Amino acid sequence: MPERVSSRLPDFPWDQLTPYAEKARAHPGGIVDLSIGTPVDATPEVVQQALREATDSPGYPVTIGLPETRQACIDWLSRRFGVTGLGLDGVLPTVGSKELIAGLPTQLGLGAGDLVVYPTLAYPTYEVGAALVGAEAIATDSLTSVGPRTPALVWLNSPSNPTGRVLPPDHLRKVVDWCRERGALLVSDECYLECAWEAEPVSVLHPDINGGSLEGILSVHSLSKRSNLAGYRCAFVAGDPAVVGELLAVRKNLGLMMPGPQQRAMVAALDDDAHVEEQHARYAARRTTLRGTLESAGFRIDHSEASLYLWATRDEPCRDTVAWLADRGVLVAPGSFYGRAGDRHVRVAFTATDERIAAAADRLR
Ligand SMILES: Cc1ncc(COP(=O)(O)O)c(C=O)c1O
Repeated sequence: MPERVSSRLPDFPWDQLTPYAEKARAHPGGIVDLSIGTPVDATPEVVQQALREATDSPGYPVTIGLPETRQACIDWLSRRFGVTGLGLDGVLPTVGSKELIAGLPTQLGLGAGDLVVYPTLAYPTYEVGAALVGAEAIATDSLTSVGPRTPALVWLNSPSNPTGRVLPPDHLRKVVDWCRERGALLVSDECYLECAWEAEPVSVLHPDINGGSLEGILSVHSLSKRSNLAGYRCAFVAGDPAVVGELLAVRKNLGLMMPGPQQRAMVAALDDDAHVEEQHARYAARRTTLRGTLESAGFRIDHSEASLYLWATRDEPCRDTVAWLADRGVLVAPGSFYGRAGDRHVRVAFTATDERIAAAADRLR
């Protein structure tokens, strides 16, 4: 048997939560699971209807996606985020954004000797994608710490999972310039762009950030959180047509095409803003309740101006906080899952139902 590829990957951390989950489940009022940011509210009816209407789908879809689906991505980015200069050749629908993130170094042909840079506190899949191809990966928020080397790939994630931090336009501009000077590809994971509470996140595709050129830049978008669509696996990548074209050329060979019915559902979701406003209001209320509850229970909330998480600390090792909350039937993710700098924080998702959020508030009061 060849070398076990899984041995190259970082430990899958969620298994470590099992004892805490058991403890939380034993609470007489049941577990309040705030550990994983999975949407719990219904998929919008407008999207379900579009899926139902598209169930007759006998032929293979094409990897590049329907023109209507790509146009809906362009229109959404333009309408909501002022993105300009994006044509149909700069957009590619992808089955999930996690799958894209994990596969990107492979699909770009990276390997041993290449360098991938990702944020100090980050969604673990950036590291996984680099590890899969044997590339070196550095977690840093300061590009000066990269030294004279040119990374093949630089990941940004704003709004951030897990911290909810939003990078200011100046910071984004500096990273764009730095990457362009060196010839590094910048990929910005913007999955939480519409989940903002006390900030206005901008896309790297906005002309104020990239000077009106998409060269050397990609952004990654997901409908999972925006439209309660995690089960549909609807996402897309957009930006430099040369890079998108190369990804397409590779992906065509891999069978990575989004199912036709999902593409129709994606158009309906991207064209509709009403459900996004409704969902935004739901999350805003849950966030306010949880934030107030945690603060009155002695927590400090850092960053968290956007995303679906509160980045909370009691200034103690995160495992102690996870245990303290599990005793009260509330399960959260230890900050250490996202990088060493997170070892005194926990990530609290506010994606539970109103009833479960109220239960958590009662217990922590
Ligand atoms: C920062 C970030 N990127 C990407 C994803 C993946 O989303 P999906 O694969 O559902 O599109 C997540 C999911 O939690 C995330 O937090």
